[in-house]
Amino acid sequence: MNSEILEKARKYEQIAEMRIKPEERPEFHLSTRTGWMNDPNGFSYYQGKYHIFYQYHPYSVFWGSMHWGHAVSEDLLHWEYLPAAIAPDTPADSEGCFSGSALELPDGRQLLVYTGVTPRETPEGEKIGLQTQCLAVGDGLDYEKYPGNPVLSVRDIPPGGNLLDFRDPRIWRKKDGSCRCLVGNRSDDGSGRLLLYESRDGFHWKYKKVLIQNRNRFGKMWECPDFFPLEGKQVLLVSCQDMLEQGECHNGNGAVCIMGSYDEDSDTFTEEKSQAVDLGIDFYAPQTVLAPDGRRIMTGWMQNWDTSSIHRNTQGEEKWFGQTILPRELFIKEGKLCQRPLRELETLRKNRVSFPDLCFTGDLTLEGIQGRCVDLELEIESEVCPCFSINFAENKDFRTVLTWRPLEETLEIDRNASGSRRAILHQRRIHLSSNQGKISLRLILDRFSAEVFVNGGEQVLSAVLYTDQAAEGISFHATGRVRMRVVKYDLKK
Ligand code: FRU
Repeated sequence: MNSEILEKARKYEQIAEMRIKPEERPEFHLSTRTGWMNDPNGFSYYQGKYHIFYQYHPYSVFWGSMHWGHAVSEDLLHWEYLPAAIAPDTPADSEGCFSGSALELPDGRQLLVYTGVTPRETPEGEKIGLQTQCLAVGDGLDYEKYPGNPVLSVRDIPPGGNLLDFRDPRIWRKKDGSCRCLVGNRSDDGSGRLLLYESRDGFHWKYKKVLIQNRNRFGKMWECPDFFPLEGKQVLLVSCQDMLEQGECHNGNGAVCIMGSYDEDSDTFTEEKSQAVDLGIDFYAPQTVLAPDGRRIMTGWMQNWDTSSIHRNTQGEEKWFGQTILPRELFIKEGKLCQRPLRELETLRKNRVSFPDLCFTGDLTLEGIQGRCVDLELEIESEVCPCFSINFAENKDFRTVLTWRPLEETLEIDRNASGSRRAILHQRRIHLSSNQGKISLRLILDRFSAEVFVNGGEQVLSAVLYTDQAAEGISFHATGRVRMRVVKYDLKK
């Protein structure tokens, strides 16, 4: 039996989504069914479909009491919304069902593991949300909260950490059939650590060890861990709060990849190196799934807490806020985590236009190269060109600009003129990891976003843009001579 709170959300979303026309959403990115979305949760392949759940506040375009929205897809591009999966409706989660993950049980049911938040007052009278780990079990459509919730509470936090930050369980099954779960916690040093728990059946959990300590290296609290093998290495993704700028990582909240090795017998993770995951403006809380064909596919929230006020600038009533990235295939090249756009995207390609060999200086527009749902492949070679840029989502009022400076070895995305009326972060400049007078770019536009894959996915930048859809121009500008190959497809479902 569904609770009234869940039924209310399910009824509400059915009506509210009717206000949103298909062309007011991204074409192929998953956006919230209605209201607000943040982190993707429980990214999984279950009963022949990919499932993405997400942090969901159906009733407004702002963060509020957290439900889990739910959508399924066979190709990660065509999404079907399912009714909200869980709602804050039990004593263990009355203030919200925070982020978590999913696992298929041996009997074929799907287990959701999430953080339940409940109100508490400290002895000093301060109101806080107490975080514990909870379960729900279901069939891919309806989920029932486990009567034994919470299955991990503050009693299960080992000494050396606080009792307030304890969230975002990431569950997986080991080869021997037992389960493991990583949960973020804040250490006494003020920064994050990940606690590892073990279970035979997914329901009864025991503390095992601290898997890794942040020790104030990457920001403060660590949220939303993911942990998986990839091409002989072990990858840990964590979303770090309150980072300082360091190396390629920008300040604020950002996702970091720590690569290393994992000894399954002793559950020991040995770190080797680290890097940022996405170097753009809007990216946080990535999660991965192992596809049936062996690919490790990553999704993420295409937004960032520090940029999430971008939505207040839209004209008129805003109908939804929050989308996930285009799912990306992860691979390792020269020891670095790289990402390429999901190969299924090629099935949406229409209207190929190509200019195999252009040489130009100055400003250039090309017949047939425009649009807001576009897959654009570019290979550019600088023959003495200090500054090359591509404007897109452009008309006389608006543009977003991608600028390559071969001599400085930088690439910059700038959406200051994309129509935002907010003075938030709108620009990011990265140092290119390989350059040599050449660059290859793949720019994927989908109405409200741009994702730039640099040099075969060595570096990626994501940004949302709420520019008027009438701005669909694309133009090229070179302050010196460049040689360029361009292939463009429209992307359409
Ligand atoms: C990360 C996060 C999680 C939390 C969720 C709440 O973006 O802060 O740590 O579970 O959002 O919506």
